[in-house]
Amino acid sequence: MNAAACALLRARDALTDLRPQPDDITADAIAGLSRTPRTLPSKYFYDAEGSRLFEAITRVPEYYLTRTELALLEAQLPSIAQAIGPGAHVVEYGSGSGRKTELLLEHLRDPVAYTPVEISRTAVLDATARLSQHFPQIEMLPVCADFTKPLDLPESTQRAQRTVMFFPGSTLGNFTNDDAVHLLDAMRQTMGEGGCALIGIDLDKDDALIEAAYNDAAGVTAAFTLNLLARLNREIGSDFDLDGFRHRAVYARKRLRIETFLVSQRGQTVHVGDRAFSFDDGEAIQVEYSHKYTDARFAELAARAGLKITHGWNDARDWFGLRLLQPA
Ligand code: AVI
Repeated sequence: MNAAACALLRARDALTDLRPQPDDITADAIAGLSRTPRTLPSKYFYDAEGSRLFEAITRVPEYYLTRTELALLEAQLPSIAQAIGPGAHVVEYGSGSGRKTELLLEHLRDPVAYTPVEISRTAVLDATARLSQHFPQIEMLPVCADFTKPLDLPESTQRAQRTVMFFPGSTLGNFTNDDAVHLLDAMRQTMGEGGCALIGIDLDKDDALIEAAYNDAAGVTAAFTLNLLARLNREIGSDFDLDGFRHRAVYARKRLRIETFLVSQRGQTVHVGDRAFSFDDGEAIQVEYSHKYTDARFAELAARAGLKITHGWNDARDWFGLRLLQPA
């Protein structure tokens, strides 16, 4: 057995698996589709295929977020590591950030443990296996869970001096402002008194630039959005016709967010569990928000969660920011 396979098996042994079960997914889908306007939870985007498609999005030319944040991390990590200090237990919400995590772990002084928290078992296992090879001295403590719910952190064998919540990619933007406050509040509780959070946020900017990032010419984002319906069909036996819905993403400047929909292309009926849902031609299912932030808006969210911003770094164009927060 090669080293990568061994690492994967070790990661699997250490994995706490709290994946959502088909009954939960069915109940969530039915609840969302019963609302007016209809919704589906964006947390279900990330099965193996969704995670693969998201990785592909990060490489399309229009999607500036990932490469801007990566360059920002590369430029600023010495000063970020200095602000965080030694002996950290790094807890990452989502494990799809690969290179960003590596950079952080490389630059921190003597980090003791790494805990990726991710709903997709495949993604969390892949991340842990890869990182444990790069960083054999760092204890890998993966958790497979829905990180919107409260979480008991696994304890590291070597006592950490500080818990650091790492939440890059502007994934916070996928939460409504109220839910973002709840998540930040939960992070504050998990990090404890001496802890901190390093959070990536996509900053407000020209509408056209933002809209292009969610409507790439190659159609990768459209495929990612439609995979939500494909996943429901695969996992809970719904019968969405994938040709019967189309991706639409618009920047709602008033609310500082991209709003993404799947729009029915004709009148049609879809079955989910024991329910039937009738769609009009042009009727939309709201499936994702991607909030953009001003300094004032982000500071307000942090304050509502009992956190204060101690450090901030932006790229030269002020497109993307990293913020370090700690309990107020
Ligand atoms: C993961 N998240 C921050 C992405 C975003 O930009 O909202 C997900 C995404 N959806 C469409 N494109 C990318």
